[in-house]
Amino acid sequence: MNKKHSTDKILEQKVDALLAMMTLDEKIGQMTQVRHFEEIPGDAISNGAIGSIIHTEGPLPGSNAASWQATFTWLQKKALSSRLGIPLLFGVDAVHGQNTYEGATIFPHNIGLGATRNTKLVEKAAAITAQESKATGFNWVFSPCVAIPYNEKWGRVYEAFSESTELTERMTRASVLGHQGKRLDQNSIMATAKHFIGDGATDNGVEGGDCSLSQQEVRERLLPPYQAAVDNGVGAVMASFNSMAGLPMHANKYWITEVLKESMGFNGIVVSDWKGYSRFGENDIINAGIDMVMAVDGDFVMYQEGLKAGVENGQVSHARIDDAVRRILRQKYSLGLFENPFPNSSLIPKIGSVEHREVARQAVRESLVLLKNNERILPLDKNVGKIVVVGEHADNAGLQSGGWSIHWQGSSENYSGSTTILSGIKRLAKGEVIYDIDASSDHKDVDIAIIVIGETPYAELFGDIGGEIDAYQLTLTENHKNYINTYINKGVKVVTVLISGRPLVTTEIIHQSDAFIAAWLPGSEGDGIAEVLFGDYGFKGKLPHSWPKSVEDYQDKYGPNYWDSAYAPLFPFGYGLEY
Ligand code: BGC
Repeated sequence: MNKKHSTDKILEQKVDALLAMMTLDEKIGQMTQVRHFEEIPGDAISNGAIGSIIHTEGPLPGSNAASWQATFTWLQKKALSSRLGIPLLFGVDAVHGQNTYEGATIFPHNIGLGATRNTKLVEKAAAITAQESKATGFNWVFSPCVAIPYNEKWGRVYEAFSESTELTERMTRASVLGHQGKRLDQNSIMATAKHFIGDGATDNGVEGGDCSLSQQEVRERLLPPYQAAVDNGVGAVMASFNSMAGLPMHANKYWITEVLKESMGFNGIVVSDWKGYSRFGENDIINAGIDMVMAVDGDFVMYQEGLKAGVENGQVSHARIDDAVRRILRQKYSLGLFENPFPNSSLIPKIGSVEHREVARQAVRESLVLLKNNERILPLDKNVGKIVVVGEHADNAGLQSGGWSIHWQGSSENYSGSTTILSGIKRLAKGEVIYDIDASSDHKDVDIAIIVIGETPYAELFGDIGGEIDAYQLTLTENHKNYINTYINKGVKVVTVLISGRPLVTTEIIHQSDAFIAAWLPGSEGDGIAEVLFGDYGFKGKLPHSWPKSVEDYQDKYGPNYWDSAYAPLFPFGYGLEY
């Protein structure tokens, strides 16, 4: 027997031995995740009634990394004081760096990483995210999102690497490896492939809508990244808010149990999404194969009582409960939490370190896709006399980072440790740099205008176009178009940098601009953009989605355009100029 198999065997024996000692309440406890500030009855943690803690939007665990660690240490001690002393898993929405902690390194969102095509870089970014997440007290991240967006109206397009299954598959492998290493152990953080399955393939890109693809298409286009994640040992998979042919994915036994667990060989944790129990069929979701429930926002009591009653009245089998708890304990043992339950304070100086930020800056540079460069206006000469930089996105780390940055829906403030596009331009330009935030100052005598425009931050639900909230659009605002017109009308050469979480309809703007760059959502190292504009580095990024010509292109879009030979985009998937 080789070493791997003997370790697995010992681990399984430990899991079985512990399971054999557990009461039903303790088992349901392991299957429960709450927020660290949630109202839970009595001392549920020291009673063994909780298996995991989540941090996302809401009160922070502390004011600095040491106090975040102290909060999680205190909670962990409570869990360890319970009858069986089973340690907690601490999970966080660190989806592009440890983005819930101000001062952490924030990477470009996955769409930008998809543009880099650089799997080694994605692996490094994930390893850094893992380290900074551990440094703030976590052992689990809810990342990567491995969706295949079928329509760019979906407000989570940027969380996914690409509309290409094959590219997503490669990036997923790299991300899982980066987070966890070759195998889950005490040095890894547990990763989560999400959202299983069909999140990005709902009709019209509605978050939580219905995915009407045939089983065959789901298998061919959506499943391969999950297989890559499973083959590389991903510790968790999160169920999706959407339904599949009318049946909520959380309650979909076919896909979760038969396909993911049984055929694909996934032996980790299937975690529900937010309030999955009350939203998607209560005990049906457990029977479908959900192992741990995000019993947040007031769901805790009804979930635990409901599941217990379900077991007692035979609706949920003991075997199903044992399978779920085994999966959870298996990961806790693999992560070494029984021996090493507490955060490591020596990691704190790594948060937002110079070396980490340099990797993020490299990712920013490599993510930029040059779509137009008339008369080779780029790279810019550093000695050019006078540059005007226009647009609120040029000097605002919040705006350049998109959703899931400091806050769930993002922010429009600079945050600590970040640099902006303007700060990068000022650092590199030898001549005069003027900032005209809204193109209202009258500068005629400038040599060049760098106009930075784009989307304001959004995340799930809020970012859908044409959905219930409908606050976003497929084109730029009139305001932003005017920034460009203002400088064009003065006869100034214009370099446009687009900050966006998806390809937007920008045909006219591209036509008007002398150069046009899709910069996606670069994150904390915005100044990396300037390094490419001035030619310290070349353009490497290639489109991770095909680029639309008109709004109609997305009207009824259902599927990756690059598959469709009849479709003529403005720029095809894979396009990107170089110097
Ligand atoms: C999102 C997940 C996220 C979870 C926890 C949900 O609303 O869909 O992606 O991990 O919240 O914050």
